[in-house]
Amino acid sequence: MDNNESHDVEFEIINHLDNSYKRDVKAEIREGLTGRQKNINCKYFYDSRGSQLFEEICTLPEYYLTRLELSILQSRASDMVKFFDAGDLLELGSGSCKKIQILLDGLGGKRRGKSTYLPVDISESAVIDSSRQLTNLYPELKITAIVADITRQMDIITTDRPSALLFLGSTIGNFSASERLEFLKGVAKSMKPHDRLILAFDMVKDIDLLHAAYNDTKGVTAEFNKNALLVVNREADGDFDPANFEHIAFFNEGHCRIEMHLKALKPCLVKLKSLDVEISFDQGETIHTENSHKFTTLGIERLVGEAGLNIEQIYTDEDNWFSILELSAV
Ligand code: AVJ
Repeated sequence: MDNNESHDVEFEIINHLDNSYKRDVKAEIREGLTGRQKNINCKYFYDSRGSQLFEEICTLPEYYLTRLELSILQSRASDMVKFFDAGDLLELGSGSCKKIQILLDGLGGKRRGKSTYLPVDISESAVIDSSRQLTNLYPELKITAIVADITRQMDIITTDRPSALLFLGSTIGNFSASERLEFLKGVAKSMKPHDRLILAFDMVKDIDLLHAAYNDTKGVTAEFNKNALLVVNREADGDFDPANFEHIAFFNEGHCRIEMHLKALKPCLVKLKSLDVEISFDQGETIHTENSHKFTTLGIERLVGEAGLNIEQIYTDEDNWFSILELSAV
């Protein structure tokens, strides 16, 4: 019997997370958990369970980010893709396919038929699931799925074709000030005159709203945060017990960012067998797991200017809570 599920995979998959990358992962985990302020890089949230939990976060009433971003995309999609005729749509940190669907609809069948969509994500399950769905929805679109770490591997994720680079969700907010400047400089350098970068930022707003978005009443964000410990257990043969840790998220005004931490509820000792390390936690000690920076219009203008990018257009909501920029290289 023929059914939709039984079709062959009709897209190419390139996985850049090879053995040497896995050694880097171990080194990075060791470094993060043996320093003074312990930390786990937030990219480790996104194994397949973490990616699913994040999708659930996106549907929570408190998590205004996705709702606003989708509505901005929904109302302005055809304007946003006006510059694009044919070529590559390269989406960094693509996650699920909801956002790109809106832009692909804005593009229309004729331009889709001349284009390739390249989703790039650290979560293999996320790129495969979304590519599979998109192949069914848009059979005329060519898809090349890329599994890679955009914080380390941007140099190998290049394209010579005319392109639209998409970095949505305010994922850039996870980077430190120097990381985001370097990242954008690199992207700007790779862009040709007609290329555009579509870049989303979450804006500074009332602290209570920010706080609620990262402390949802259902506890999904807490689960998502604790999932990082399960990922470390798997990557480093560790014995973290997530029940010994509590989810903490607060707005750090000095740094203009939400910080997420995992706080030890009691003194404990954790073994990471494949790294041959033992880590001790005092009661109340935290592991810093994420920064999510919030931006002002002025701050964004400075940042993109310094990176060598030119603002073509700013798309935002009526409260300027979330904004999506169309940028060209200077
Ligand atoms: C995917 C990085 C945009 O920072 O809001 C959601 C991740 N962390 N809830 C964000 C996240 C906690 C999210 N980004």
